[in-house]
Amino acid sequence: MTRKQSVESAVTEAGRQLDARVRTANVPVYRASTVLFDSLEEAAATGARSMAGERHATTYGTVGTPTTFALTDALAEIEGGGHACRAALMPSGLLAITVPLLACLKPGDHMLMSDSVYGPARVFAQGMLSELGVRTTFYPPNASPEAVAALIEPGTRVLYLESPGSYTFEVQDVPALCALARERGLVSIIDNAWASPIFARPFDWGVDISVLPLTKYWGGHSDLLMGAAVVREPLWPAIFRVMRQLGVCVGGDDAYLVLRGLRTVGVRMRQHEANALALARWLQAQPEVARVLHPALPDHPQHALWQRDFTGSSGLFAFELDRARFGGDDDERLPPGRRQAALAALCDGRRYFGIGYSWGGYESLIMPAKISSLRSVEPWRGGPLVRVHAGLEAPEDLVADLADGFAAMRRVLQG
Ligand SMILES: Cc1ncc(COP(=O)(O)O)c(C=O)c1O
Repeated sequence: MTRKQSVESAVTEAGRQLDARVRTANVPVYRASTVLFDSLEEAAATGARSMAGERHATTYGTVGTPTTFALTDALAEIEGGGHACRAALMPSGLLAITVPLLACLKPGDHMLMSDSVYGPARVFAQGMLSELGVRTTFYPPNASPEAVAALIEPGTRVLYLESPGSYTFEVQDVPALCALARERGLVSIIDNAWASPIFARPFDWGVDISVLPLTKYWGGHSDLLMGAAVVREPLWPAIFRVMRQLGVCVGGDDAYLVLRGLRTVGVRMRQHEANALALARWLQAQPEVARVLHPALPDHPQHALWQRDFTGSSGLFAFELDRARFGGDDDERLPPGRRQAALAALCDGRRYFGIGYSWGGYESLIMPAKISSLRSVEPWRGGPLVRVHAGLEAPEDLVADLADGFAAMRRVLQG
């Protein structure tokens, strides 16, 4: 504080002389709304460069800061996998779905969407998009490319995929479907949540936009919400326009946390994979389990596609309880109260498996799924479905914890 300076001025200046001599390993966190310029000319020139699509040109915190640019560069490089891509950050994975849809569709357009998409993506298509005059046709996630081709209409603009699908884990022939989309002039969008950054290369498959819920494995610690759309360069102006008009942006702290999560995602994914497979194999041997829905298991209906297209499997899968013992959503074989009590005995009070709606963090989770409201093409006719996220705990502890849950469930079924 200089002699003639008032404290009101001093508090605006103190600590802003950053020590540029220290090269820290990690990019610092920039928290910014205002970006300052040396002159009006520089402000105007930066604005023009930003509007022209220059990567790090920023006029305001909503456009980006060095911390968010570090993350968008990393995402474009890793997810883009050598293809010319740009990344846009959103405050949630869901916005990373809705912003590209708003950018690619206009009233009167039509979209094809897989029937096993993340539930809120379906809700957006059937709700806000439909109110805006965009129609959606859901196709079976195991439909052949020829069957999907037959659903294309003159106004179809987007093919929206998720592979493996939410809850039921169908693997699609994404390269063939993207080739079809390209041939017919559709934009292909994939929700690439499951595979994490290291097990899939969607731009090699031919997708135009890859949606990344960074909340899941990229962040990896259940302490942030963020999403990204990684898009081929020619689609960038359309995404940028919607981002600017809606004011979609993220803060530096969360961007920093994703960058930090990214550094360890490789080793984390190997442990998630091994733990999920240990649990899946144990579950396959339980008499109450009708089937385990995990693409890396040889009896999965699209195992060959998974083997062809993915380099590993993540920690998320599901198992179906035997309909003959438990009944289904549409069949009251066990009185609904007993079925609910059996599921509660399985899930409640586990030591390692929390009950929660997300996944992709270090901790294991278990949650029964109400699948019937989430499918419109092929209604769910199976027994109760339970989704498991294998965290990073020791596999033998997870198996023992689940075995305790099965023992508790058996006591309810017998009583
Ligand atoms: C497959 C999939 N996509 C997208 C999302 C949305 O991510 P977020 O929770 O960050 O909005 C989720 C969240 O559970 C998801 O499971």
